[in-house]
Amino acid sequence: MSEICIIGAGYVGLATAACLAEFGNDVACVDIDETKLLQLKAGAVPFYEPGLSEMISRNVTGGRLHFTSRTEDAVRKSTVVFIAVGTPQGEDGHADLTQVRAAAMNIARALNGPKVVVNKSTSPVETGDLIASIIREHRAEPYEVSVVSNPEFFREGSAIADFMHPERIIIGVSDKDSAEVMRDLYSPISAPLLVTDVKTAEMIKYAANAFLAMKISFANEIARICHEVGAEFKDVIVGVGSDTRIGPEFLNAGLGFGGSCFPKDVMALRRVSEKHGLEPALLGAILDVNETQIEWSLDRIKEGLGNLKGARVGVLGLAFKPDTDDVRESPAIALIERLLDEGATVSAHDPVAAQSAQKILGERITYGATTEDVARGADALVLATDWNEYKQLDLGHLRLLMKGRVLFDGRNVYDPHKALAAGFAYIGVGRLAAGTFSKVANE
Ligand SMILES: NC(=O)c1ccc[n+]([C@@H]2O[C@H](COP(=O)([O-])OP(=O)(O)OC[C@H]3O[C@@H](n4cnc5c(N)ncnc54)[C@H](O)[C@@H]3O)[C@@H](O)[C@H]2O)c1
Repeated sequence: MSEICIIGAGYVGLATAACLAEFGNDVACVDIDETKLLQLKAGAVPFYEPGLSEMISRNVTGGRLHFTSRTEDAVRKSTVVFIAVGTPQGEDGHADLTQVRAAAMNIARALNGPKVVVNKSTSPVETGDLIASIIREHRAEPYEVSVVSNPEFFREGSAIADFMHPERIIIGVSDKDSAEVMRDLYSPISAPLLVTDVKTAEMIKYAANAFLAMKISFANEIARICHEVGAEFKDVIVGVGSDTRIGPEFLNAGLGFGGSCFPKDVMALRRVSEKHGLEPALLGAILDVNETQIEWSLDRIKEGLGNLKGARVGVLGLAFKPDTDDVRESPAIALIERLLDEGATVSAHDPVAAQSAQKILGERITYGATTEDVARGADALVLATDWNEYKQLDLGHLRLLMKGRVLFDGRNVYDPHKALAAGFAYIGVGRLAAGTFSKVANE
């Protein structure tokens, strides 16, 4: 059992705090956002993450987890201090490390003995050195501090399951003792644990996110080519992904990647490379394909409708991906913004993210309580987030509620034949229009 302090009660901080408390540790989770703390203290989780609120309340009741704004007290009580604050994109594309610097400063001021400081925030190579130097400079006594990099790989929407059953744990250390502390902390988890130096661990996180983003941009580029040449993307990608050297995961085409990680992390890695005199052509291309995917999708909807001005478009999904209410950098929102620019009126539905989306889109769109609400009277229906509940929709029923018949499947979820049978003019991302190809060979 360890005494742990986690600075930052966001997605990463809260999930880490809950899971480490679940292992029997004594965890204090600190945040500067008083509203968030009030919610947490009242037993509410400030965002949607399956299973998290149950785990938090179990551990709060068990006395192993508590929330506070008093960083100093929490740090002083702990032997291991995690930094899990935001590292948003700065204006120039570099990671903005303001929150990390502030957290390091808070740790330095509270230091009352040796500690292991674990950076879980995604931050560029050399952030470990930065944290160590801030602490060295501002500590009152020369207590020993080991800075560890322990990047987080979980996915929003399955954060708890991913934390508990990761495919690997990465620990970047500069001394054996802190490696032991980290091994011990993660000992309840059965997963390969890779111990590296700090910079290597920092690099692994960025390289992993860039690779995943690259797979998505690759799929989108292939889908655009399929669209032009008249090939069926879904079959192309099954054929490609069946090669074990490639693999089928993360190769769906759609509206592109979004969320609080991929866009900013690829950009930050690009900036780090440039700072070191490199010209990372591939990283630039990943971002370029992603940015233009919204315009490509808009063009497909425009083609389907003839004209967007005055058109009514129903949008299914607002979150950047299913199982979360996170709308940061959501492609659904980017597409809606473009539809509005072009003079369309938009009504949207999301199982959980409507409230978060409303903070960005306000009253510029209407929010349907059901999928029927957004289909009613619409000229086109757009699937923007592939929530499971949208996969089995009664398309025939929705079509009858609509004025028009365009269905833009921005996540390649529907079978074009079924959509056609339901009366839709189906447009996918690199899909053949139903009727122009036959599946006889596969039947
Ligand atoms: N969200 C994800 O799925 C995910 C996955 C892996 C890695 N990451 C990385 O983890 C980090 C955190 O991401 P997140 O999504 O949890 O961010 P978030 O914005 O949801 O949460 C950050 C929290 O830190 C708090 N904070 C900021 N400065 C503070 C300070 N000085 N003291 C105490 N609290 C402070 C903020 O109030 C906020 O609640 C980022 O670097 C991100 O890139 C995120």
